[in-house]
Amino acid sequence: MMSTAVTTSHDAGLNGGAPTAITPATALDRAGIRPIDDYLNLGEAEIYERIQEAKQKLGERVVILGHHYQRDDVICHADLTGDSFKLSQQASARHNADYIVFCGVHFMAESADILSGDHQQVILPDLAAGCSMADMARLEQVETAWEQLQELGLTSLMPITYMNSAANIKAFCGRHEGVVCTSSNAAPLFDWALKRREKLFFFPDEHLGRNTGVKFGIPLDQMVVWDPRQELGGNTEEQLKNARIVLWKGFCSVHGRFQARHVDDRRAEYPGIKILVHPECRYEVVSKSDLNGSTEFIIKTIAEAPAGSKWAVGTELNLVNRLAKRHTDKFVTLLAPDLCMCATMFRIAPENLLWSLENLAEGNVVNQIKVDEETARWAKIALDRMLAIQ
Ligand code: 13P
Ligand code: SF4
Repeated sequence: MMSTAVTTSHDAGLNGGAPTAITPATALDRAGIRPIDDYLNLGEAEIYERIQEAKQKLGERVVILGHHYQRDDVICHADLTGDSFKLSQQASARHNADYIVFCGVHFMAESADILSGDHQQVILPDLAAGCSMADMARLEQVETAWEQLQELGLTSLMPITYMNSAANIKAFCGRHEGVVCTSSNAAPLFDWALKRREKLFFFPDEHLGRNTGVKFGIPLDQMVVWDPRQELGGNTEEQLKNARIVLWKGFCSVHGRFQARHVDDRRAEYPGIKILVHPECRYEVVSKSDLNGSTEFIIKTIAEAPAGSKWAVGTELNLVNRLAKRHTDKFVTLLAPDLCMCATMFRIAPENLLWSLENLAEGNVVNQIKVDEETARWAKIALDRMLAIQ
């Protein structure tokens, strides 16, 4: 069987985003692997049909997982859809499939590889599907920050990483008795951590960290931001010693675009409208909203809302458009008037999915995401802690 595996580790220098040095097989230099170029000019209908055929051929040997931000022409092929948390649960539970084809981004595929069985192989249909937020925290930076905080005497500090981070960052948390959280379980995980340590060190999403800290009544001035490019993260020793939470200076390029004025504008435009946002949005937006939660929470909230209700949703465009199409008895619109699409999620196109599946059906594993053993072992400890605390 031919295989193009991408091993991810700190040594490989890969972060949560896309590996840059490795490209998918593009020619017949690896015997038997179909080149991606053969797929780029196919028509939509043919791609759809061939994906269905390849799935049928693979049967139970393959499971396709799809994150809610995937485009419609990809999500329609997913066997299971979910937010980051639900998909990690699925990856750890579906041990019958040999192949997990992950329609999502790189850090999700890494987590699936860590949580799945040894006999399973995880495939990311396009290796360029990374996450700009995950790329904002590199292991060396986190380790430097950790050492500096320890030197200041902040030893009762719990590291928590958001799921949107590289495997080596999760492994760092595993090694330091820390944990992983997602947007759907950040509050119980913060609760767990605050019962064990005085302070939290949260990375890489400043906003999810602050929004969750506020839920625990932690004052804004006791949550300081650590900028890895500055000495002591840009803080004084006193600020760090007084802080309850040290927040990494990272953000989502999609959710970071929503502004408080968008909330005001939508309320003025549509009297009675409810504002529902993802907690990766900045605090100024979340604090003005009616509800906030993960993508799974957003979907459930709209589904259960009464007919005739109006919703402005602050999250990725593909999901908001899908909700608007699915619930025609309700009014659903994007919170901001301009496009907010996750460009890296969008990299997973039907062409790549078909290319991966047809190669798999012929016994050729392409774009495998493989986390090195040592990183996977520690990252799994942090992920398993998360899965156990619900
Ligand atoms: P959830 O899947 O936790 O809702 O997070 C959204 C996201 O940004 C995934 O990258
Ligand atoms: Fe990363 Fe934001 Fe895209 Fe999620 S939506 S994958 S956090 S860039």
